[in-house]
Amino acid sequence: MQEPKTVLSIKNMHKSFGEKKVHRGVSFDLHEGEVLGLFGGSGSGKSVILRSIIGLEHPDEGEIIFEGRNLVNLTEREMFPVRTEIGYVFQNGALFDSLTVEENLAYPLQSHTKLTPKQIRERVNQMLEMVDMPKANILLPNELSGGMQKRAGLARAIILQPKVVLFDEPTAGLDPVNTKRLLNNILAFKKRGMTGIFVTHDIPAAFEVSDRIAILSEGKIERIMTTEEMKNSKDPLVQSFTTGAHIR
Ligand SMILES: Nc1ncnc2c1ncn2[C@@H]1O[C@H](COP(=O)(O)OP(=O)(O)OP(=O)(O)O)[C@@H](O)[C@H]1O
Ligand SMILES: [Mg+2]
Repeated sequence: MQEPKTVLSIKNMHKSFGEKKVHRGVSFDLHEGEVLGLFGGSGSGKSVILRSIIGLEHPDEGEIIFEGRNLVNLTEREMFPVRTEIGYVFQNGALFDSLTVEENLAYPLQSHTKLTPKQIRERVNQMLEMVDMPKANILLPNELSGGMQKRAGLARAIILQPKVVLFDEPTAGLDPVNTKRLLNNILAFKKRGMTGIFVTHDIPAAFEVSDRIAILSEGKIERIMTTEEMKNSKDPLVQSFTTGAHIR
């Protein structure tokens, strides 16, 4: 079998907040074209990993290699182009409340591309179709259902066609129908070549979209394996996550 190409590599990342050690040597590789699920208890540091990748947190030690470059300690200015290549789907959608859906989606295109207003409108409409929200252009975020807010957040994160998309609990709080829709959107983007990290407590959702799954525990990636291996694993640590026992 051919060696998978690594697009993003986290090497020995350490991070403390005051006395609290959150990461104690987190290391893993993200392969081109895969969705990597990431499990971990509440407060284990999953969001901090995603935030570190896009430069919203700064590791105390370690490297984050993306396209041959260490992202740790890049300046805001140097991070700006990197953020067009790494999309981030925030847990609550994180739309700008005072902007319409169309304005929210147009924003990254206006700030990072030279597209004309007409081209921007076309691209926004295309994206809204893809996330099952045609004609939602003029609605404000507070006029959307929770599921629509998340799909609009997904559309905005993906509109610049980033190489990597980071998903922070995208299905949290969604009913089964909206969960299914969002997962289908993710699978559709994956077919078009998207690579992603999928942080979630939703085990069936992770099983549905992930090629591999990693477990963050005690500040380290304690396990990383294919989804099939994880489903069949008899390892007590793995089972505590796949059965949800780690929560109880
Ligand atoms: N900016 C910050 N300042 C201080 N502590 C922080 C900060 N960000 C995160 N933490 C702490 O780091 C730990 C890990 O936080 P993180 O948000 O990554 O957890 P998580 O695994 O995403 O949890 P959840 O599943 O509940 O979202 C928590 O104890 C949190 O309180
Ligand atoms: Mg989190």
